[in-house]
Amino acid sequence: MSYVVNGNCLGCRYTDCVEKCPVKDCFKIGKNMVVIDPQLCIDCGECVSACPVEAIAHDSKSDLKWIEHNGVFSSIWPAINQAIEPLPCAADAENQINKEEVYDKEAF
Ligand code: SF4
Ligand code: F3S
Repeated sequence: MSYVVNGNCLGCRYTDCVEKCPVKDCFKIGKNMVVIDPQLCIDCGECVSACPVEAIAHDSKSDLKWIEHNGVFSSIWPAINQAIEPLPCAADAENQINKEEVYDKEAF
């Protein structure tokens, strides 16, 4: 069991979630979003309310494609343990539809 970052994070990447997580290296950062390492997540749920765009949910309530995405890229992308500036496009991205067509979810 773990929590999962979904496509709402794409283009925003606010990273408030990272500051709330009690587990070192649990979050990994890509070019357009972060993911959670399912091997490290202790299922505490602390990160959920930190995200302003509701991009984190329990795996029992997450789409399989995002569960798989977090699983794959958490072993590839580098860890992030402190918040950084949001992406410059964050405000626009909040209300963007078809985010997956606009932002590369696999790039670093
Ligand atoms: Fe970290 Fe807890 Fe969120 Fe898992 S649920 S990513 S351990 S804050
Ligand atoms: Fe993404 Fe929300 Fe964290 S936008 S980086 S999941 S605070």
